[in-house]
Amino acid sequence: MKRHKFVKLMLKRANGKPATRGEAFAPANIALCKYWGKRDADLNLPVNSSLSISLGKLGTKTVVKFAKTADRVFLNGKPAPKDFADRISKYLDLFRADGQFFEVRTKNNIPTAAGLASSASGFAALVKALDQLLGWGFNPRELSMLARLGSGSATRSLYEGFAVWHAGVRADGMDSYAESFSNAWKDLRVGILEVSNVRKKTGSTDGMNRTVETSELYEAWPAQADCDFDELRTAVAAQDFTLLGETAENNALAMHATMLAAWPPLCYWKPQTLALMQKVWQARENGLELYFTIDAGPNLKLLFLKENQAAVKKLFPKVQIVNPFSS
Ligand code: DP6
Repeated sequence: MKRHKFVKLMLKRANGKPATRGEAFAPANIALCKYWGKRDADLNLPVNSSLSISLGKLGTKTVVKFAKTADRVFLNGKPAPKDFADRISKYLDLFRADGQFFEVRTKNNIPTAAGLASSASGFAALVKALDQLLGWGFNPRELSMLARLGSGSATRSLYEGFAVWHAGVRADGMDSYAESFSNAWKDLRVGILEVSNVRKKTGSTDGMNRTVETSELYEAWPAQADCDFDELRTAVAAQDFTLLGETAENNALAMHATMLAAWPPLCYWKPQTLALMQKVWQARENGLELYFTIDAGPNLKLLFLKENQAAVKKLFPKVQIVNPFSS
């Protein structure tokens, strides 16, 4: 498998000191320009570049140690469900020496698998913790490429604030990494509107593969994503909120349109998701500058500026407001 070769090449660069434990936090991230579709499934290389904002203190904390006879995986203080533990063990297979096992204790302060990108923060925190335990001494760019093998969106969770994940063009994936982008945008706020935290039936991996294989509309996606990626970089660099909000909302809806045109159809929305979208559109018609984005799940993430925080809270009393740049 190509990913084993990729890891072998990467580990040749390791130059740190191993330890007896590793501990790290990584933030969740919300894509403003979405990653949707793989150009290489084994190396997890995306069709298009993406851009995200990390959620400050919301994310995953992970501790890794060596274990004696088998991997032991804990999620939020309890033995992890089998599918979760298996996914982690499979990822650890990439790095383990013969007869080496790991104990992984991971805690999320966001719902797992509800489209709130917990696999992103999960693999980013794990790879940072492994870097300490196994003594790789890698920089964030190198770690982002290893996190990518766990989950594409994890590539971006190595950073606070804005991150861009370059799709790259190389077949070996060595130019597909994430880096931090631009300065703090102190007045930007993200609002989380949770519709459901039930584990979704179709995960992102299967969802995007089905879309690429069966959706006629997917053909239009790479060009739109490229264009949105450029617009969003401009918006972030200039702190142009209107450009950011309009581009991010349109990008999310275009992604969901490709899914609706897949077969069997793929719709991550619940009736309440649509009701909330309409509420945002109505608020905008009434003069409130408010936008949303939605990942492969039913929950909305609102985008607005600090000056509108009170108005947003009044309209959506249950919203969880995040300041991505609070220290
Ligand atoms: C809609 O990163 O979960 O959230 O690489 O297959 O693990 P895999 O997929 P994943 O997909 C995220 C899709 C998205 C958009 C995004 O975060 O860019």
